[in-house]
Amino acid sequence: MKIGFIGTGSMGRTLVEAFIHAQTFLPSEIVISNRTQKTADQLAAAYPGIQVAHNNLELVQQVSCFFICVKPGEFRQVFEDILPGIKADQLAISITSPVMLEDLEKWLPCKVAKIIPSITNQVLCGSSLYIPGSRITPKEEQWLHQLLSTISNPLKVDERHTRISSDLASCAPAFLANILEQMVEAAVKKTGIPPETAAPLVAQMALGVGKLLTEGGFSLHSLQQRVSVPGGITAEGLELLEQELSPAFDKLFHITHAKYEEDVEKVKRSLQYRSI
Ligand SMILES: NC(=O)c1ccc[n+]([C@@H]2O[C@H](COP(=O)([O-])OP(=O)(O)OC[C@H]3O[C@@H](n4cnc5c(N)ncnc54)[C@H](OP(=O)(O)O)[C@@H]3O)[C@@H](O)[C@H]2O)c1
Repeated sequence: MKIGFIGTGSMGRTLVEAFIHAQTFLPSEIVISNRTQKTADQLAAAYPGIQVAHNNLELVQQVSCFFICVKPGEFRQVFEDILPGIKADQLAISITSPVMLEDLEKWLPCKVAKIIPSITNQVLCGSSLYIPGSRITPKEEQWLHQLLSTISNPLKVDERHTRISSDLASCAPAFLANILEQMVEAAVKKTGIPPETAAPLVAQMALGVGKLLTEGGFSLHSLQQRVSVPGGITAEGLELLEQELSPAFDKLFHITHAKYEEDVEKVKRSLQYRSI
């Protein structure tokens, strides 16, 4: 089976590399295309065997399943490129949340699904979200689940919950890294500890916390209870975080949802009129 990736920017490249490292696909089973071909050529040079298609149409004519890894405003061009080559039994997988399944199905006369990968999939960790389209059979859904499980923990979500699930699985690595960075900066400012000592401390701590929560039998709550002694230093710190962080997260989700709704509207408008 040949698998395609349209768009080899940050996330397209991450997915290609993750599937190769997980041995889901051999490089020779992968076909890629990118608007600027040099970027695709560089990825192919790193993994001999990957085939670079000269354009998106050439790519879809060679694969049974392909990922669309471009930004929301770039979808229309991709649709117009590939439409003449699409076959009903092909599977098109979009990795972009504001492009609705309804629009994917309107434009593409094939099976479609939406997935939301995460940068954590680069190290074959973290979640991926998937939302199968209406033309996908239970067997194909099972195949998609299995495919994603080679690089992540797949979770089927309702399209209505795409934004919040993406915030938690896909944006949160950046949010968490920001919180940890601010923690390191405050530690450096307060005590003069060298950043190169403090940064690995929080990185190893985050790795350990992830393991405790996924393999160590802890919940978010029980972990806090276990570390803090009533009246102790950690308990004081937790009290402060409750007060300060909770309103920040309310605002954060307000912002991500407002931006999402704006993007959905923009994409709907850009996909409205079929020129072909
Ligand atoms: N980054 C994340 O962690 C993450 C996680 C989940 C989902 N996503 C979603 O993934 C999508 C892509 O994000 P990204 O960070 O990978 O963006 P990116 O780095 O800008 O990559 C987009 C790629 O698409 C290529 N492209 C644009 N139009 C094209 C066309 N008509 N035909 C072929 N290739 C085309 C671009 O080529 P050029 O080289 O010419 O610019 C670029 O390499 C976004 O919608 C984002 O929301 C991202």
